[in-house]
Amino acid sequence: MKQFLSVKDATNIDAMIAKGIEYKSNPLKDKNLGAGKRIGLLFMNPSMRTRMSSQIAARNLGMEAFVLNMGTEGWALEFADGAVMNGTTVEHIKDAAPILAGFFDVIALRTFPKLQNRAEDESDVAIKALIKHSGVPVVSLESSTRHPLQSLADLITIKENFKPTATKKRPKVVLTWAPHIKPIPHCVANSFAEWVNAWGEADFVITNPEGYDLSKEYTGKAPVTHNQKEALDGADFVYVKNWSTYGTGGEDYGRILAPHPEWMLMQNSFSSPDTKVMHCLPLRRNVEMSDEVLDSPRSLLTTMGKNRIWSAQAVLSEILKNG
Ligand code: CP
Repeated sequence: MKQFLSVKDATNIDAMIAKGIEYKSNPLKDKNLGAGKRIGLLFMNPSMRTRMSSQIAARNLGMEAFVLNMGTEGWALEFADGAVMNGTTVEHIKDAAPILAGFFDVIALRTFPKLQNRAEDESDVAIKALIKHSGVPVVSLESSTRHPLQSLADLITIKENFKPTATKKRPKVVLTWAPHIKPIPHCVANSFAEWVNAWGEADFVITNPEGYDLSKEYTGKAPVTHNQKEALDGADFVYVKNWSTYGTGGEDYGRILAPHPEWMLMQNSFSSPDTKVMHCLPLRRNVEMSDEVLDSPRSLLTTMGKNRIWSAQAVLSEILKNG
């Protein structure tokens, strides 16, 4: 693996899940793999789980990890080719990236979409410019379109928590929209859909209110229903996430259409006591999901968060071996 931007970079998803689970039981099994190597973790936007888990994963592999909170402590970077930099940006990625590539063997970047222009967000200009101008392996810590380290941790969590039976060989996995107070990026939902589809080991359904359909580029052939109750019926895993509108890509992109409080997950949303809930965090309690669900045995949220170490470690080990 020479980069990790999406599921397309994971040639064998089952092997990556297995690798993550292996590291979970023996974190230091490859403790010298990254000896003498350095990773630069650049954050244009806030993070808790991604930052900490990536640092721990790197250290478990013997790598040195350096964090720069670009968004608050670094120079404001320009990513657009040919930009006339007479505005707020101070340094072009074309100038910064070769220097970072001299400092680091791997560079990882978090950058959120602005949710103002769909075409601009979908072009993922920041991470693509970093790849173009650095020439070293690049890892997405969440880009304008996807959050692949989160999705791999999500599949590790599903794999660990699904026990096949004679009558149920595959889990039913539902991705449900949940309410939020502000417009939220599509990255986690896009990525989750893309990974579950590519994995192919689940019966996958997506449910959201009308007006919030995700792009087919990510949802593929997964059925989409606007009836949450119907979608949740018989679910083994319910992935809860808000996202703003995609619309046609014009003024209707990145919006909240209505509060939809009836879409908040509560105990009476589920037909089975065994249905588990997932959310990548951070989460607005009693807006997206109720306390009673979050504080019940249904919740896999803590497990998912902790599994972020093992997804990062599986990815970094692949890059160290093959990058
Ligand atoms: N889920 C996730 O990416 O968390 P952070 O934003 O805290 O990194």
